[in-house]
Amino acid sequence: MKKNYSIKVSLKNNPYEVLVGKNVLRKYKNKIFSTIKDAKKIFIITDTTIKKLHLKKIQQIIPKKFFIKTLTISPGEKMKDIKTINKISDFLLKNKISRNDAIFALGGGVIGDISGFLASITLRGINLIQFPTTLLAQVDSSIGGKTGVNSSYGKNLIGSFYQPKLVVCDTIFLTTLPRRELIAGYAEIIKYGIIYDKNFFIWLNKNTKKLLNNSALETIKAIKRSVEIKKEFILKDEKDVKNFRALLNFGHTFAHSLENCAKYSKNLLHGEAVSIGMCMASKLSNNLGFLSLNNYLKIKNTLSDFSLPINIEFLKKIRIQKKQIVKNMVYDKKNLSGKINFVLCKDIGKVFVYNKVKKDSIRKSIS
Ligand SMILES: NC(=O)c1ccc[n+]([C@@H]2O[C@H](COP(=O)([O-])OP(=O)(O)OC[C@H]3O[C@@H](n4cnc5c(N)ncnc54)[C@H](O)[C@@H]3O)[C@@H](O)[C@H]2O)c1
Repeated sequence: MKKNYSIKVSLKNNPYEVLVGKNVLRKYKNKIFSTIKDAKKIFIITDTTIKKLHLKKIQQIIPKKFFIKTLTISPGEKMKDIKTINKISDFLLKNKISRNDAIFALGGGVIGDISGFLASITLRGINLIQFPTTLLAQVDSSIGGKTGVNSSYGKNLIGSFYQPKLVVCDTIFLTTLPRRELIAGYAEIIKYGIIYDKNFFIWLNKNTKKLLNNSALETIKAIKRSVEIKKEFILKDEKDVKNFRALLNFGHTFAHSLENCAKYSKNLLHGEAVSIGMCMASKLSNNLGFLSLNNYLKIKNTLSDFSLPINIEFLKKIRIQKKQIVKNMVYDKKNLSGKINFVLCKDIGKVFVYNKVKKDSIRKSIS
């Protein structure tokens, strides 16, 4: 098995590579800086936790000729807010950022989404390099160009499409990741098996133990395959207008609603919400006659074997009402027409968009 990979996301107007492997940060140093040839300043955006653990690794590879400024925010989903955008854009402009300069996003999905949005709106577009430090960010949020922040009306409702110049998925970052965060990342990885690749789903089942024990080669393979699958969806539907990229949202209509109910708190991580959401979407698919009971149970058991939550029992502390879960879904950004778009599953590896679900069926799938 190879140890390092370069996956090319060959979008017509914004092609870029995703580097995956151990120590790719150091090994591909020249490639990283060749993507921002005209930059003079580098603005690193990170959070206080990652700063302590990993900032040095980035600083060490930056050639001396660059002017470096680091901006650190508090960790957590609550920072994904328009106020943070105002604060950081003031900082960038105060430090006279120019269009040739670069933003380095060093962190999980929160840092990546915030930095991507800032890169897209500051001076109408600054070079962006993503250095994802969580498993979830390496396999999902750093790739594909969706950027943005949350609103009181729901998740990710303010944002843009903006592709990075490069994504550097170095597994060295994952060594410090808390176990709960690591497990949450596997929700999105399992999702790729369910929506696109049955063999990958089977492989994940066979390698659960090794993956949860951080076995290096298997982890890299899981990240690589996930990036390849996400790439397929982006290349076919970059701006999410053809009901194809939407398939990546399997489980997310429920998940976004649950996150809103949990007030974007640490009680429920994004990956955990996706796991519960996928169980609900699979149950709905089974209730409506699209998915066999056997496959529904396979999906649920796989998530459970990865120690992921599979129902709202997990949230008993915050006492969520089913009514509220359904209500929130109407505000999901893809449902502004009033109809709720669901991604349903008909077989492992096969999903489709369906918008004829009645409220009662939604309620029955929530457990
Ligand atoms: N843009 C997209 O396409 C997309 C896709 C999926 C998810 N997302 C977004 O991503 C966000 C979730 O991302 P996440 O799960 O990475 O969470 P996160 O960014 O909140 O990071 C999780 C926590 O782990 C800490 N952390 C990060 N890297 C670490 C490391 N290497 N060692 C120790 N601690 C570390 C962070 O400080 C934070 O407290 C959500 O806001 C979600 O909406 C976006």
